Amino acid sequence: MRRRPGPFTLAMSALEPALMIYLDNAATSFPKPEAVYRMLDHYLREVGANPGRSGHRRAVEAERLIGEARRALASLLGVSDPDRIIFGHNATDGLNIALKGFLRPGDHVVTSDLEHNSITRPLTGLEKKGWITVSRIASRAGFIEPAEVRSALGPQTRLVAVTHGSNVFGTIQPIGEIAEVAHAGGARILVDAAQTAGVAPLDIEAMGLDMVAFTGHKSLLGPMGTGGLALLPGVDPEPWREGGTGTDSSNPLHPRNYPAKLEGGTPNAAGIAALAEGARYVARRTPEAVRRHEVSLAALLRELVAGDERFTLHGGGDPSRELGIVSFTVRGYSPNEFAAALDEAYDIAVRPGLHCAPGAHRSLGTWPDGTVRVSTGPFTTEEEIRDAVRAMREIAAAAA
Ligand code: ALA
Repeated sequence: MRRRPGPFTLAMSALEPALMIYLDNAATSFPKPEAVYRMLDHYLREVGANPGRSGHRRAVEAERLIGEARRALASLLGVSDPDRIIFGHNATDGLNIALKGFLRPGDHVVTSDLEHNSITRPLTGLEKKGWITVSRIASRAGFIEPAEVRSALGPQTRLVAVTHGSNVFGTIQPIGEIAEVAHAGGARILVDAAQTAGVAPLDIEAMGLDMVAFTGHKSLLGPMGTGGLALLPGVDPEPWREGGTGTDSSNPLHPRNYPAKLEGGTPNAAGIAALAEGARYVARRTPEAVRRHEVSLAALLRELVAGDERFTLHGGGDPSRELGIVSFTVRGYSPNEFAAALDEAYDIAVRPGLHCAPGAHRSLGTWPDGTVRVSTGPFTTEEEIRDAVRAMREIAAAAA
């Protein structure tokens, strides 16, 4: 029997989405706009075909939907040539396409201690093979200082690889300034926009961001298994994944034209078509309006627990440079225990632990247990935040 303390009317099933309070949007956004569900259903039931292959009408329609998705993403992210939007599985895939296709033996890379494992692990792997050298700059209070990036650049530096938004603290990095510093030092910039695409200012060409990895399932409000890499003209990584493209089939080598050059294999066509619907929803509401909504609810949570000494907030607190993320620890509980109590007793979903970004926790002193992370989304309500804080207080009060 599940323990359900507190004054709440809760779902009988832990998976009843209408009653669950979902505060784990930094891991994946939920729910999605209705049009995303409708497109997935339409694609799987009525389109069905493999885009770019076969030539029949359904395959042509599938290709059209993918082209529309490329245009929707290009327009939202500030890329003038939609063929420079490369679709892959997620931001990790986009980062791997960039790192493994762009870097050459002998290169030096500058990165930071805020990074998710999707940057840290590929770089460390290449470093351990002796192919590249890496400098890891220390962040301050959740922010990467452009001056620190400048000091770390050297004659061999070909790439600065950094996150746009910390998935642990929600801090938005001064990415335009970091790009200027990288370019002045003769390097390119690779941006991990997993947490920011669709919710933070991201105008790729105007900001001079050479390569930007994005995921579809977070603030772009699409399904999991979608995402990829946006590239400026003149930035040309080698293909990391080679194979079928549906074109130029007699060629024994992978084609060089974009986007096929970096997109071997059958894509997640249903997911990409649905991602376009998520991007259209965001474009209508505008990323900045969504960010303001999410940040105001995160600020409400901060305000409601402020002064309660059982809760320690980590990082953040400047709404103009933040996402809707609050990381905290609770007296008497490990983050895992506290998140499990929220889930099991109150049907409230949050994420505890290191969030795949161990360096960020070392930097702010929350290593090795990490934090409890609450992350708001475009459909989170004030009432949900107030209910969540009441549940948090009840659990905190029950500490031995
Ligand atoms: N990177 C995702 C997160 O921060 C999954 O939770």
